[in-house]
Amino acid sequence: MVSRKVGIVGAGFVGATAAYSLSMTGSCHEVVLYDINADIAKGKAMDIGQSTSYAPKGTIVTAAEDASDLEGCDIIVITAGVPRRNEMTRADLLLINAKIMKDVVGNIVKYSPDAIILCVSNPLDIMNYVVHKLTGWERHRIVGMAGALDGARMAYQINQKVGYGSGQTRAMLIGDHGQHMIPLPEISAVGGVPLDQIISKEDMIGIIDRTKNGGAEIVKHLGTSAYYAPGRAISVMVEAILDDSRIVMPSSVILDGEYGYTDISVGVPVVLGAKGVEKIVELDLDEETKAKFKISVDSIRDGIEILNKNNFFE
Ligand code: 2OP
Repeated sequence: MVSRKVGIVGAGFVGATAAYSLSMTGSCHEVVLYDINADIAKGKAMDIGQSTSYAPKGTIVTAAEDASDLEGCDIIVITAGVPRRNEMTRADLLLINAKIMKDVVGNIVKYSPDAIILCVSNPLDIMNYVVHKLTGWERHRIVGMAGALDGARMAYQINQKVGYGSGQTRAMLIGDHGQHMIPLPEISAVGGVPLDQIISKEDMIGIIDRTKNGGAEIVKHLGTSAYYAPGRAISVMVEAILDDSRIVMPSSVILDGEYGYTDISVGVPVVLGAKGVEKIVELDLDEETKAKFKISVDSIRDGIEILNKNNFFE
C-alpha cells in the first residue's frame, strides 16, 4: 500500500478518536473524515490536524467536502449510525442503521472500490454482514471491529483484579459484540501466564460479566457510548492492515464453513494483514463453548431475519 490513505465515515466521538489515535502513531499518510454534518468533520479534522504538530510523525488530516473526497482510500472505517435511544426497539435501530449503511456503502463502492472496509457501526455483526451483502465484495475485505475492543476490556478487568500486567495481557473472545459474546479465559494470558494460575474461578466469573457489560457500564457513567478504547482498537486494526503485520485479532468476519456456519458475520480470531482478513483461525471448541457459539450466531441471525422481513436486501 503506497498511499496509506484512510477514510473514516462518521466523525462522531468514535470516528474522531480513531483519527486522533492514527495521527498520534503516525501510521497513515492521510486521514479523511467524512460526516453528513460537514462542519463537524471540518472542525474535528482541524483540531486533530493541529494536534499532529506534536506527533512523532506527520499525518495529513482532512475533512471531506463530499463523498468524492473518499476517493482512493486503502481502508475505510465505517462508524456512521445512530446509537440506540430509549424509545427505540432493537428492530428500529437495526433498520435505521442498515439504511445508513446503504448510503455509505454506495459511496465507498463508487469512490474506493479497492478498499478494505472496517465496520464499527452497531449492531456490529449484523452491520458487517449488511456491508458484505451490499458491496458484494470478497469477504476478506470486510472486517468488523468488536473483539479488539472487547478483548481490551477483558484485559483491563484482568489487570484491575491482579494488579499487574497492563499492556501484557491478551484476552481472546468469540461470538457477537453483545450479550452473547463468549470470553475465553482458558486461552487468555497475562504475559504468557495462563489465567487459571493467577485468578480464581469465582473472580473469573466477575471478570467475564464485567467484560460482557463493558460498553453498558461506561454508558451508565457517561450517558453516552465509549470512544477512547473503541478508537484505539480501530487504529490498531488499521495499522495491522496497512503494515501487513499479520496480528491475530478477534474480529467479526463472514464465515463460509468455518466453525460449521455460512452466511453470517460473527467474531472469531483472524489474522489481519494487507488483504484484510488473511486467515480465519479455527479454534477447537469444547461442546459447551460450541453451544454458546450457536446461541450467539442465532442472535445475529435473528437480526438479519428482521432485515429480510422488511425486504431490506431486495
Ligand atoms: C461499545 O461496546 C457501543 O459498541 C460500543 O462501547
